[in-house]
Amino acid sequence: MDRHLLAIDDVSEDFETILRWAIAFKSSWKSGNEVALNFMPLDTLTVGSIYEKPSTRTRVSFEVGISRLGGQPLTLLKNDIQLGSSESVSDTAQVLSRFLGAMTYRCFAHADVVELAKHATVPVLNALSDKHHPCQAAADLMTVLEHFGDEKITLAWVGDGNNVLHDYMLASVMLGYDFKYATPKGYEPDEDVVKRAQEIASTTDASIFSTNDPIEAVKDANVVYTDVFISMGEEHLKDKVEAFDGFQVNMDLIQHMDENWAFMHCLPAHRGDEVTDEVMDHENSIVFDQAENRMWAQMSLLVYLINPDAWEAMGEFIGLT
Ligand code: CP
Ligand code: NVA
Repeated sequence: MDRHLLAIDDVSEDFETILRWAIAFKSSWKSGNEVALNFMPLDTLTVGSIYEKPSTRTRVSFEVGISRLGGQPLTLLKNDIQLGSSESVSDTAQVLSRFLGAMTYRCFAHADVVELAKHATVPVLNALSDKHHPCQAAADLMTVLEHFGDEKITLAWVGDGNNVLHDYMLASVMLGYDFKYATPKGYEPDEDVVKRAQEIASTTDASIFSTNDPIEAVKDANVVYTDVFISMGEEHLKDKVEAFDGFQVNMDLIQHMDENWAFMHCLPAHRGDEVTDEVMDHENSIVFDQAENRMWAQMSLLVYLINPDAWEAMGEFIGLT
């Protein structure tokens, strides 16, 4: 079986265990447990990460997480390698597979990470494409589980129908959460992703509600999540922001939520645009837990995809069956 992560529903079968592994491993590691601290399932492996776009969280969380698992991170910035200018994605995949234990790829066109995975003989993880951001969604739902435990809560999204929404919606319904989203007219999520999410929701007792009204989306919800209005690669679409009038997450919007509310953002945030300082810095904002969890969730995903035997063994040790 190909063990790739191109979109979060690629791991739908084991998703909850992947997150519970990450939560339990984080706790063991932070409490100084020797077995967790000495867990080196990526020993002797180099994991290469190709970036066509800038990154703070993804790059640092992969580099540190891979090192903590005994592997060697190798960051490959697009301007420093032959990919694109003089070498195809498929040739790059075949060459890098001879050296690396796995690859991560942040690209513009989602078709490129699909192509890399098609020709790679090692696991490929999508580190953000224009359509999906599965590593983000794993950290997001890990954070929701850590923060709310097993409570049956409602998750909401206010903003663009973009890559982050796609995987957040898929991941939420994979865990059985009711999900509501508001996007401006013309900026709805891709229909094929909504269809996939609806199919999953029908098997997990989750519901999906869509609207163009932010208040309707957040009404009585426990989590509101937003992202920038203009994603990387869309800088030429500056006029797009006009459609987002009324889509800022501020305290006026929050007052419609359940009193047990939390604010989430994948970051980087454009304070004053999609969110106010007051919400970002509120005690109910869990954005920095979310950012930290990028590393723990990716560590679980990396071991699951690269060394499943070690993942199972550590799962047993930290109390998962
Ligand atoms: N959230 C996220 O992917 O951040 P970076 O662009 O900094 O990696
Ligand atoms: N939607 C944003 C997410 C950044 C982490 C982008 O693609 O630029």
